[in-house]
Amino acid sequence: MSVRRSVVVGCGHYLPPRIVTNADLAEKVDTSDDWIVERTGIRERRIAGPDETTSVLATRAARAAMDDAGLGPDDIDLIVLATATPDYTFPSTATQVQAALGITQGAAFDLQAVCSGFVFALATADNFLKAGSHRRALVIGAETFSRILDWEDRTTCVLFGDGAGALVLEAQEGDGTLADRGVLSSHLRSDGRHFDKLHVDGGPSKTMTTGHLRMEGKEVFRHAVTNLAEIVEEAFRATGLKADDIAWFVPHQANRRIIDATARKLDVDPAKVVVTVDRHGNTSAASIPLAVAEAYGDGRIKKGDLVLLEAMGGGFTWGSALIRW
Ligand code: UT7
Repeated sequence: MSVRRSVVVGCGHYLPPRIVTNADLAEKVDTSDDWIVERTGIRERRIAGPDETTSVLATRAARAAMDDAGLGPDDIDLIVLATATPDYTFPSTATQVQAALGITQGAAFDLQAVCSGFVFALATADNFLKAGSHRRALVIGAETFSRILDWEDRTTCVLFGDGAGALVLEAQEGDGTLADRGVLSSHLRSDGRHFDKLHVDGGPSKTMTTGHLRMEGKEVFRHAVTNLAEIVEEAFRATGLKADDIAWFVPHQANRRIIDATARKLDVDPAKVVVTVDRHGNTSAASIPLAVAEAYGDGRIKKGDLVLLEAMGGGFTWGSALIRW
């Protein structure tokens, strides 16, 4: 039986050139390289310059993904951009990226699921392509979290960074088996009762300000490992696949200890886990496509590999996706 699949045909990323180390931060707040490395695994992060807005980062990542796919602006008819740090309250960052790329057909919209944003965007684009309404989608995760950090709060400002990553998905016909290339399954969850544990204390309707990120780190950590393991197990149950079948495990990059604990819980071989948190920090919706782009760029992720994505973020939101590359 022929089944329509969303196949990855291009992958790209962009990181702002400015590197901020833990030692740089220790000059501003009461922290140390030792504390940050031991508790999070983060050594440095990229911070966007004043002109490097989310749409600028996203456009560069998207262009790289289109170049990788050998596609031009006439070939894309859907843009789903995951971000919690849009350039403007409206219009969407996706429409700015669309214009910057010279794309004039199809639809472009933002999607807000904070750190789970890329998995939510991938699942959304996949469903549009499978439904047959669109043919080729740019799925982008792009953030400038440095703009919403309270730079005097050492419990949060050391954790995050800026960047963008993108995939091009193309609708192709598959056999309907797990050997097909493309997105094989996706699983999304939300639970709005956990607002207080990770949120931004501002917004257009509530405060008419942008606000700053606030987090009860320990609480988020506790939920993260449980929720992430559950949503990956859901993907395994749905497909009949198991940890050993996965070639590359690409988790959201929030904290090395969360990544390691989740991999341990799921019995994933540590050698199969893609880790960028040491150099990128937590880039929210951009972290997964940045990690995927790194592992694809250095030759680890190859055609036919089974890649597992998982993420958890504010809301709470969490999700997983299985892709045959
Ligand atoms: O992407 C969305 C999901 N987000 C996450 O997954 C983040 C989840 N949470 C975490 O990653 C961790 O909870 C943190 C890295 C945020 C914190 O690590 P922790 O081991 O849970 O530390 P803690 O919050 O319990 O703080 C321990 C101590 C505290 O001091 P006292 O109360 O024990 O005296 C903090 O004040 O460390 C102190 N502290 C710091 N010390 C030096 C907190 N931040 C810092 C800092 N430098 N930057």
